[in-house]
Amino acid sequence: MFGRIARRYDRLNRIMSLGMDGRWRQQAAASAKPDGSLALDIGTGTGDLALELKKRGARQIVGADFSPDMLTAARSKLAAKGVTNASWTLADALHLPFPEGTFDCVTNAFVLRNLADLRSGLAEMARVLRPGGRLVCLDMTQPPPGMLGTLYKLYFYRLLPPIAGVISGDRAAYRYLPNSLVGFPDSAELAELLVEVGLAEVEVRKVGGGTVAIHTAVKPPAIEPA
Ligand SMILES: C[S@@+](CC[C@H](N)C(=O)[O-])C[C@H]1O[C@@H](n2cnc3c(N)ncnc32)[C@H](O)[C@@H]1O
Repeated sequence: MFGRIARRYDRLNRIMSLGMDGRWRQQAAASAKPDGSLALDIGTGTGDLALELKKRGARQIVGADFSPDMLTAARSKLAAKGVTNASWTLADALHLPFPEGTFDCVTNAFVLRNLADLRSGLAEMARVLRPGGRLVCLDMTQPPPGMLGTLYKLYFYRLLPPIAGVISGDRAAYRYLPNSLVGFPDSAELAELLVEVGLAEVEVRKVGGGTVAIHTAVKPPAIEPA
């Protein structure tokens, strides 16, 4: 499905987020504190978050995704922008092909909702992070109660799928989008999961009127044997 929409993905993102998604990725990249780091962006898609990591001084960026078409789009985009310190890996987030403790920071944007096993995916991200390294997750979250939440639900569940379906030419892909949020943990539950997979210092920042959350967590330093 992601391969089918790769070519039109960026344009659809700008339309669906009312132009706000770029700013959210900038905030997520800043939270990863990537300056000088070896960074992994999981579910990198067309590479927009990887690009933000580069802008904030990442020394080397690895973009991983299980869609070859998305990786092709990311590779072309970053090459066109003169980025030479990025590499691209075809990989499943649930089975990352990297040794434990490899990366200084690990990021993901709009990926967690898609994972068949969220806990395993988070545990994999924690595994490949070095002690002291940071994990940043940017994704939609359950909308806030009240009028704003009601309006958002109308937009997200009713208006957006047919509009995005027509613009993208792929109605099935954009019927999937609202379904991916059904049953997804709210921001507090996701914060708990991050702790359960061994991470600490979990912080949650809501953006987009409370409809999008940026979770940040740190892998605790390894305990030296006494
Ligand atoms: C909604 S897109 C987000 C792309 C990008 N991170 C962004 O900010 O626009 C989700 C991406 O995650 C990838 N993805 C979903 N599940 C995955 C998995 N289990 N392993 C690797 N990539 C996955 C998809 O191929 C797709 O490129």
